[in-house]
Amino acid sequence: MSNQQSLIIFDTTLRDGEQSPGASMSVSEKVELALLLENLGVDVIEAGFAVASAGDYKAIEKVSEVIQHTRICSLARARQQDIDLAIAAVQKAPLQRIHTFIATSELHMKHKLNMTQEQVLDSAVSAVRYARNRVDDVEFSAEDGGRSDIDFLAQLIEQVIEAGASTINIPDTVGYCVPHSFGQFIRQLMNKVPNADKAIFSVHCHNDLGLATANSLSAIENGARQIECTINGLGERAGNAALEEVVMAVNTRQDLFPFTTGINPTGLVNLSQRVSEITGFAVQPNKSIVGKNAFAHEAGIHQDGILKNRATYEIMRAEDVGWKGQQIVLGKHSGRNAFISHIKSLGIDAEQQQLEAAFERFKQSADAGQPLTDQQIIQWFGRTEEQL
Ligand code: KIV
Ligand code: ZN
Repeated sequence: MSNQQSLIIFDTTLRDGEQSPGASMSVSEKVELALLLENLGVDVIEAGFAVASAGDYKAIEKVSEVIQHTRICSLARARQQDIDLAIAAVQKAPLQRIHTFIATSELHMKHKLNMTQEQVLDSAVSAVRYARNRVDDVEFSAEDGGRSDIDFLAQLIEQVIEAGASTINIPDTVGYCVPHSFGQFIRQLMNKVPNADKAIFSVHCHNDLGLATANSLSAIENGARQIECTINGLGERAGNAALEEVVMAVNTRQDLFPFTTGINPTGLVNLSQRVSEITGFAVQPNKSIVGKNAFAHEAGIHQDGILKNRATYEIMRAEDVGWKGQQIVLGKHSGRNAFISHIKSLGIDAEQQQLEAAFERFKQSADAGQPLTDQQIIQWFGRTEEQL
């Protein structure tokens, strides 16, 4: 019997991702991405924040009509008017979720909300109860949870679970937390909530210190079972935990994270590229998993190792995340073995002497910064593409 537990992947590319300044998406673009996310196998798609704009409302409504097998969620502040609109927007979805939130840190309660702890607690409980009387699946988020007083948070969470929330999300709203202590915080919090076993604990980590993925992984080591994330790590400011990083960390390090997800990783690269094309946000070449250099080997020693045994320099297979195959790049750091192996892969059968001469010529042009094309190599050997 397997002792693997399932991890819920909650994608918020269409909501928090769209909050990246300049990353707006049209209704039809959101529908296209929602279909790709459904195909990828995410468990929940947060399609927008219904009250934010008429466009957001329409997009959630349309996504809810089209998506049949994935739960569709709308965000709502802890206010009846927001919740009513969110419920109306997801009405046509076969699987619905309302995600309501209020800030719980001293800083936010005092300076942003101008509310006391008691008022915040009342608003949270009333909002969850109101939503739960109308839909089956309610998530509650304690905004700025990572900087909130743990005893107040535990008291509030106990009551929102009692009021009907089945998912409790602890956001690191400002990306301030660091992995070890964030994991401990989640564990201690769950221990302090007497009815914690009645809900799934979730985290939503921002990337201001570049720690969103690490914090999310630390949280699942300590009891969280849902991760909120986005394709390419898109999101407010420095973004959210990147879905592709979280999923591939779990898949690659099953020794540490014995979880299953419903994600088919071969769809990751295509989805990343569509998100990038639609939002106009380029993916940096060295971005983990989906950057164009993520599986490209240029150093001679690495190329030689890869040709002998891929496991020497690859912890994942490029094709498993949707690339066409791992790439050997011929550049000034490349070695003889990689060069010759590439020549052979082009179908050129040459004498050793010719190969050595071509290698010298290649090194000179690579040093001069001149990119080498396969057509040039073919010409060096006096062939045409038709002859190969
Ligand atoms: O970062 C955050 O706190 C959020 C919540 C609304 C979940 O996006
Ligand atoms: Zn967020």
